[in-house]
Amino acid sequence: MKIMLIFGTRPEAIKMCPLIKELQKHPELETIVCLTGQHREMLEQVMRIFGIDADENLDIMRPGQTLSDITGRVISGIDGMIGKYRPDVILVHGDTSTSFAAALSAFYHHIPVGHVEAGLRTYNLDAPFPEEFNRQAVDLIAKFFFAPTGTAKENLLKEGKHTEDIYVTGNTAIDALHSTVSDHYQSDDLDWAGDSRLILLTAHRRENLGEPMRHIFAAVNRITNEFPDVKILFPVHKNPAVRKTAHRYFDGNPRVRLVEPLDVLDFHNYMARCFLIMSDSGGVQEEAPSLGKPVLVLRDTTERPEGIEAGTLKLVGTREQGIFREASMLLADPKEYNRMSMAANPYGDGHASERIVKVISDYAKGIDRSAIL
Ligand code: UD1
Ligand code: UDP
Repeated sequence: MKIMLIFGTRPEAIKMCPLIKELQKHPELETIVCLTGQHREMLEQVMRIFGIDADENLDIMRPGQTLSDITGRVISGIDGMIGKYRPDVILVHGDTSTSFAAALSAFYHHIPVGHVEAGLRTYNLDAPFPEEFNRQAVDLIAKFFFAPTGTAKENLLKEGKHTEDIYVTGNTAIDALHSTVSDHYQSDDLDWAGDSRLILLTAHRRENLGEPMRHIFAAVNRITNEFPDVKILFPVHKNPAVRKTAHRYFDGNPRVRLVEPLDVLDFHNYMARCFLIMSDSGGVQEEAPSLGKPVLVLRDTTERPEGIEAGTLKLVGTREQGIFREASMLLADPKEYNRMSMAANPYGDGHASERIVKVISDYAKGIDRSAIL
């Protein structure tokens, strides 16, 4: 049986590579890796770290690409790939425009879709934008729902999906984390942080571009002014809109270090060693609870309530005053900090890929797993 995995951005790659490695242990499953190239450098970084060579790369990325550009190029490019390889199953991940467009292309060809990380919801189509639409649309099309948590499964059931099509697997992000964090890790950036308390910052969401991002960055500058023992490390997303604003706010601040997007191995080790994380990322919200690192989530809403319930994540919005207040509380109050920094594991045990491959493998053998789950 031929399984085609289609993805195109950094976070999809981080979460699909462990799955590819697991699929490759099964010679009866022919694995075809097709990159859309929605991201370029940030995607190549991940493929290199995991040592995976893609079979195809549509290389669609253009500076300043619009959502319509991405969607149109992926649909037509994937059409050709489906014609060339004739896959039996297509796997997509999460909620990017690549995932939506690839699933739509598969649907047009009547090819069953497996959705890895199915069932995440905010039920607000504006936040995150356009990801909430993308994931709901993929779940309209999918045949296999690989839900990372029970909460995601509940969402799918509420929407009328059948329980026998939903598999609670854990999140493959945790599989990746198990292979990257090491006790012996060292780096120049960590040397730069020295004895200071290190805050790791990431920001890239489309709905945060513009005023919200200016508020976030202003709050960060206030934090360094107020707390002299704090340093901020900010691996800046390749999006030129993010980079321009970051340089405008931070070029004069010696305690904020702007670096290029980090290899996932470095980033995971920085997460493991930092004091606190401030981020609007989705993936970071899943990884941090396992590492016991508090995350101030720079958003008003999240599709990852498990980390909030575990106590590791806090939604702090995108207004300067609110972000500054919440960060100050964690920096000044050890009790509050300790309350948030307990390790929890709501996103799985690091074996999600094995569970997904078992489902696919049984499907290939013609076994109806719903009878045994
Ligand atoms: C995309 C996803 C988002 C995900 C994020 C992960 C959509 C709509 N958005 O958003 O869900 O959270 O990836 O990072 O699918 N660029 C480069 N090199 C790269 C990557 C990006 O130069 O390797 C620049 C390009 O100018 C590009 C811009 O960044 O136009 C934005 O990239 P794009 O994929 O459109 O949106 P993201 O904000 O990265
Ligand atoms: N990440 C990385 N290098 C960085 C920043 C983040 O490897 O410089 C990883 C992070 O560990 C997580 C993923 O990238 O696994 C999150 O990607 P991103 O925030 O771009 O997208 P999202 O998860 O919000 O879709």
